[in-house]
Amino acid sequence: MNILVTGGAGYIGSHTCIALMEAGHSVIIADNLCNSKRENIEKIMDVAGKEVTFYEINVTDVEAVDAIFKNYKIDGVVHFAGLKAVGESIEKPLKYYYNNIVSTMVLTKACKKYGVNRFVFSSSATVYGNNKVPFVETMDLLPATNPYGETKVMSEQILTDIANVNPTLSVSILRYFNPAGAHESGLIGEAPNGIPNNLMPYVTQVAKGKLEKLRVFGNDYPTIDGTGIRDYIHVVDLAEGHVAALENLTEGVHIYNLGTGKGTSVLELVRAFEEANGIEVPYEIVDRRPGDIASCYADASKAKRELGWTAKRDIIAMCWDSWRFEKNYKE
Ligand code: NAD
Ligand code: UD1
Repeated sequence: MNILVTGGAGYIGSHTCIALMEAGHSVIIADNLCNSKRENIEKIMDVAGKEVTFYEINVTDVEAVDAIFKNYKIDGVVHFAGLKAVGESIEKPLKYYYNNIVSTMVLTKACKKYGVNRFVFSSSATVYGNNKVPFVETMDLLPATNPYGETKVMSEQILTDIANVNPTLSVSILRYFNPAGAHESGLIGEAPNGIPNNLMPYVTQVAKGKLEKLRVFGNDYPTIDGTGIRDYIHVVDLAEGHVAALENLTEGVHIYNLGTGKGTSVLELVRAFEEANGIEVPYEIVDRRPGDIASCYADASKAKRELGWTAKRDIIAMCWDSWRFEKNYKE
C-alpha cells in the first residue's frame, strides 16, 4: 500500500516509516519539521534501504495536502503530526487546538474527496485521565487536565462522528502508553528540543553528563516505592503496532491501547538503566509535578486479540537502545 505518514520525520513516525517499509509498503511523508530535522528523512532511508517521498508541508494547509492526494494514489493515512508538549499547551492553547484539530479535519476531508478509506490516528493514554488501572478501551474518558489532552479527546470524537456517517471508512485510534527506546541502529531516536519533559530522555541526558541529576517528581504516591508508575513501550514495538493496525483495519472505528500491560516505577526505570548500561544516574526526590497521576498502564489484550500484536521488547532493551542513540547523537 502507499501510505501517507504525517509527522513521519518525528520520533514515533520515523520508526513507523521504517516498519511500514519493512512490511513492503511505500511511504510518503508530510512534515513541516517544526519538531524534527530534515536529516531524519535521510536516516529513515538509510535504515530501511528504500526511498521515501518527502513533502515539507503543514498538514493544516488544505491546498498542500490536496496536492499530495492528487499526485499519489494514497491507500491509507497514518496521522502522527501534532504538537505534544503538555506545559506549552497550557500556555498556548490556541496553537495546540489549531494544529492538532485542524490537521485531523483537513486530512479526513482529503480522504473523503479522494476515496481513501484507511485512517490511523495517534491518540494517547492521557485520554483515560485518572481512571482505575489497568486502562481498558471501554472505560469512560475523564476530562483532560490540559489542552494537549483535550485535542486527543476531541480528535477521537471527530473521527468517530465522521466514520459513523461514512460506512466505508475504517479508522483505527491508537492510544499509546509511554514510548521509550530507539531503533537498534542507533541512528534514529528521541531528540527533544531543550530540556526534556519525559523521563527516559531526561535519564539519558543525565547519563551523558548534559544534565546534572534527575529530579524524581514525588515519592509519596500509593505505588510500590512511592514513585509514579507508567507503562513504557519500546518505540519499535509501537511502530509494529501501527503496521498491524493498518493491515487489519475493518470498517468502522476501532480503538486500541498500545502498551505492554506492565507498570514500571520511576526508580525501577532508573535502576534498570543503571544495570543495563553500567552507568550511575544521580537523582533527587522533589515535589510531585502538577497534573501527574500515580499509575498508568494498559490492558493490552484487545490489540493482541484483534490485531495479533503484542509488545516484545522489555525495559532493559529500551534502556540499551535509548542510551545507544543518545551516545551517538550530535546536536
Ligand atoms: P514528534 O514531535 O517527535 O513528532 C511529531 C512530528 O509532527 C514532528 O516531526 C513535527 O515536525 C510534525 N508536525 C507537527 N505539527 C505538524 C503540522 N501541522 N504539519 C506537519 N507536520 C507537523 O512527536 P512523537 O512523539 O513522534 O508523537 C507523534 C504523535 O503521537 C503525536 O500526535 C503525539 O501527540 C502522539 N503521542 C506521543 C506520545 C509520546 O510520548 N511521544 C504519547 C502519546 C501520543
Ligand atoms: C507525560 C504527559 C502526558 C503525555 C506523555 C507522553 C504530563 C503531566 N503528562 O506523561 O500528557 O501523553 O508525557 O508524552 O506532562 N518523571 C520524573 N522526572 C522527570 C520526568 C518524569 O520523575 O524529569 C516521572 C513522572 O512524574 C512520571 C514518570 O516519570 O511518573 C513518567 O513521566 P513522563 O515521561 O513525563 O510521562 P507521563 O507523565 O506519563
